[in-house]
Amino acid sequence: MKNIPKLELHLHIEGAAPPAFIRGLAAEKKVDLSRIFTEDGHYAYRDFNHFLKVYEAATSVLTGPAEFARLVTAVLEESASHGVIYTESFLSPDFCGGGDLGAWREYLHAIEEAAEKAERDMGITMRGIITCIRHLGPEKSRPIAECAAETAGGFITGFGMGGDEMTGKQRDFSWAFDCAREAGLRLTTHAGEWGGAAEVRGAINDLGVERVGHGVMAIDDLGLVDEIAENGVTLECCPGSNVFLGVYKTWDTHPIEKLRERGVKVTVSTDDPPFFRTNMTREYELLNKTFGWDEAVFTEVNQNALAAAFCDDATREKLANRLEGTS
Ligand code: ADE
Ligand code: ZN
Repeated sequence: MKNIPKLELHLHIEGAAPPAFIRGLAAEKKVDLSRIFTEDGHYAYRDFNHFLKVYEAATSVLTGPAEFARLVTAVLEESASHGVIYTESFLSPDFCGGGDLGAWREYLHAIEEAAEKAERDMGITMRGIITCIRHLGPEKSRPIAECAAETAGGFITGFGMGGDEMTGKQRDFSWAFDCAREAGLRLTTHAGEWGGAAEVRGAINDLGVERVGHGVMAIDDLGLVDEIAENGVTLECCPGSNVFLGVYKTWDTHPIEKLRERGVKVTVSTDDPPFFRTNMTREYELLNKTFGWDEAVFTEVNQNALAAAFCDDATREKLANRLEGTS
């Protein structure tokens, strides 16, 4: 499973930070972060809302562009070791300069440089999706969308939203999504991880996204599932994340296979891998064990990811060749 070439569309860069990396930075900066770690060195949190708080605490030691560059290198090294050849990573200007455009440009420059080096050294391609954070509210999403619009193109291919889905409505953020769309960015948002099928509807109808982060709760509205399938909306499924956070109690009750069987374009990602004690190899192993997914199904989901990737066509063609093993 490890060696199958993989495309990953849903990865939060801060959420992918290995705990040892964050602990190391905390020690360098003499910040006591012991409260966010278990004794055996994992991230410690009780539930999703606490997870968001621990996540934020971990980012507090990512104090500048250099720290983010180191983070990108560490994350891409780990992803590449699991056969990932392409990763679309969520980048939050809220964590990179507090939403200030000038600061964001500096962070972005460092992130992009680290990503280019990783591509040369490890053969993994990264693209960035700028994300606003839902529980910070619509007002805060505006400067983030402006950061996205100002730096759109090339490395920055998309705009999205993460955070607490139970705060507000998708449509409250339409100004930000319109701004990003007008700048030529492709759109995705977290929906239907916690908020039910209605959130997925809101994401598609009110924000006009072409991909949905998670989206799995659409399964509770089969009419919606059929619309998603017919319109070719791609779901960024993260089954290990959903099971770890208790959205679904077990792997065999996760709806990814039901969605696929009904014609939805599903893809596989890890979301925040060390937080959920997972990686792409483990996701593939559990999909194989739980649903009998074989090489043909993994090819299908990687082709779905390739088609839905926000990169340009030259990059898509290179990735297609790598998936086929011709380069
Ligand atoms: N931010 C990081 N991980 C997230 C998740 N799983 N859902 C929403 N926001 C997030
Ligand atoms: Zn996510």
